[in-house]
Amino acid sequence: MSTTRTVGIGLVGCGTIGPLHARAVAGIEGARLVAVADLRRERSEKLAAEHGVTACSSMDELLGTPGVDLVSICTPSGTHGELGAQAARAGRHVVVEKPVDTTMQAARDLVEACHKAGVVLSVISQHRFDPGTQRLKATLDAGGLGRVLLAEGRVWWYRSQGYYDAGSWRGTYAQDGGALMNQGIHTVDLLLHLLGPVRSVFARATTAAHRMEAEDLLVANLAFASGVLGVLSVTTASFPGVPETVAVTGTSANVVLEAGSVRTWDQDEAALGKAPETAGTTLASAALGSRHLGETAHRLQLADVVSAIRNDHAPAVRGEDGLAALGLVLAAYESARTGTDTAL
Ligand SMILES: NC(=O)c1ccc[n+]([C@@H]2O[C@H](COP(=O)([O-])OP(=O)(O)OC[C@H]3O[C@@H](n4cnc5c(N)ncnc54)[C@H](O)[C@@H]3O)[C@@H](O)[C@H]2O)c1
Repeated sequence: MSTTRTVGIGLVGCGTIGPLHARAVAGIEGARLVAVADLRRERSEKLAAEHGVTACSSMDELLGTPGVDLVSICTPSGTHGELGAQAARAGRHVVVEKPVDTTMQAARDLVEACHKAGVVLSVISQHRFDPGTQRLKATLDAGGLGRVLLAEGRVWWYRSQGYYDAGSWRGTYAQDGGALMNQGIHTVDLLLHLLGPVRSVFARATTAAHRMEAEDLLVANLAFASGVLGVLSVTTASFPGVPETVAVTGTSANVVLEAGSVRTWDQDEAALGKAPETAGTTLASAALGSRHLGETAHRLQLADVVSAIRNDHAPAVRGEDGLAALGLVLAAYESARTGTDTAL
């Protein structure tokens, strides 16, 4: 049933990404920020003051604040499942930052709690909304690349030791994971979104350049169920870092996306039967090899979640998509640990 009611949003976690969610919500029609929460009260008070909303110290307090229909969870990754399930049990729609959680059990419990409560669940994967990704997805779905053969995801970013030291959760398997779980999962989700499920993975991982529990360097071979072969390389030790790329090659085209825009689009025109596509432009800057974290892509995804709530449709990125990306990351970790090919 469609509704024109404004969706009230409550945000939990006012650290790095929480404030970006708050800015992103500000531009969405049919949505408004109502309250923000953080265990560190000074953080929620600062963000609340900036947006003229209520400051809370916990999820409990946020759920007790009138007008919260959707809870956006921006806390450390290992807390997403439990906090999201708490919001769902209280009848609130849920959006969680990536990854959906760090364990399959907590992630499945979240998906189940949302199904049971009949609320919308979406996992942030904002780069699905980047223009290059959207164009490549549409072309793949239309068969424009011919028979797809090979895909490569490359995330060669840089994070300083100070980044990992700044939070006790960072770089731990329980709360964060390493370069693949935290930074690489965007590209993992894009590969699954573009090419479908992966059947098995063989990975090698190491902690090469940081003092942390989890890996900062991982390479993997992927066998997609479709027969496509894939390669993934992810690190946070590549100073100063370069923009991430996703490359897909088929019998009719070779496409490279860089930071979400088209870098190369070589198309066999005869196979397509029409004029060649022109290459798009590449994002100019890539501070420290990651993107400049603007809120545009988050705004597009959060607007999609608001629309899903108001118009009663599934969100573009569902809880199940978060499970699939997490499943591939955990299978890569198992493969690296055991030295064997790991089936999914
Ligand atoms: N989509 C993206 O591009 C992107 C970018 C950065 C971070 N993230 C994700 O966002 C999440 C948060 O990352 P961050 O860098 O903002 O972390 P952060 O450490 O900067 O902030 C997390 C905040 O959550 C608060 N918090 C922790 N537990 C809480 C609880 N139970 N209730 C209320 N507040 C709590 C902390 O006090 C802290 O202020 C992670 O899962 C990360 O993977 C996503």
